[in-house]
Amino acid sequence: MTMEQLHRQTAAVEGFLTPNEGEVLYTLAQQCSGRGAIVEIGSWMGKSTIWLAHGSRAGAGQPVYAIDPHTGTANPEPGATFWTFDTFQANLQQAGVADLVRPMVMTSAAAARELDGPVELLFIDGSHAYEDVLTDFVLWFPRLVEGGVIAFHDALRWAKWPDVARFVDRHVLPSRYIRDAQIVDSIVYARRTVAATPADLARNRAVLLWKQGYDAGSQLPLPRPLKKWGERWLKRVAGMP
Ligand SMILES: C[S@@+](CC[C@H](N)C(=O)[O-])C[C@H]1O[C@@H](n2cnc3c(N)ncnc32)[C@H](O)[C@@H]1O
Repeated sequence: MTMEQLHRQTAAVEGFLTPNEGEVLYTLAQQCSGRGAIVEIGSWMGKSTIWLAHGSRAGAGQPVYAIDPHTGTANPEPGATFWTFDTFQANLQQAGVADLVRPMVMTSAAAARELDGPVELLFIDGSHAYEDVLTDFVLWFPRLVEGGVIAFHDALRWAKWPDVARFVDRHVLPSRYIRDAQIVDSIVYARRTVAATPADLARNRAVLLWKQGYDAGSQLPLPRPLKKWGERWLKRVAGMP
């Protein structure tokens, strides 16, 4: 399937990914060698799952473990459950990737108890509350293989989820176990390393500073065209799409 066809297919699925974000998930899944599982926390109706599964198919063909209680949130108000699993499954069928996806209809904490073995790609897009992002990180990051990728969606403050952004700024980008951090729209991703070199740490620091500048700028009460211009300029400086 061509990239253009993939964009058309995923545009029809309800979800929250930008086209650039979809492409980066595709590429990261395609690059997996098969040393560990591909794990997605937070599938909603399957938009990101479909990108990951197509990428995996173009690479080593690892299954994608798609974790979501499919109740709209891990802690729904009594009587307010929003069941997304049927649409999720129908979307995977329609996209032709149902054979590669292993749905786990439960929270990430329950899935961490159920699923054994190492992980090569971890995409975190579940609950966006600080404590829940922390739980996802603490339970799953130690299982990433050396060189494996952790990716957070909605990790820039303009994405309106300050808890995810704050968590990534505090615990991910400054970590000694992270290298090669990158930003694509609201996704921040990086590779796990046993010990970051001084050069890795300096690079991560530069990405963090750039991100914090971007986040702060996006919150200034500036006219929209000026903000857009600043955004484009900052992206060009960082070589972002
Ligand atoms: C922002 S949506 C995911 C969007 C999806 N990745 C996409 O591309 O369209 C967040 C999802 O996380 C799920 N979720 C909430 N808490 C969770 C948890 N503790 N573990 C796993 N999934 C969770 C929700 O049910 C919801 O479907």
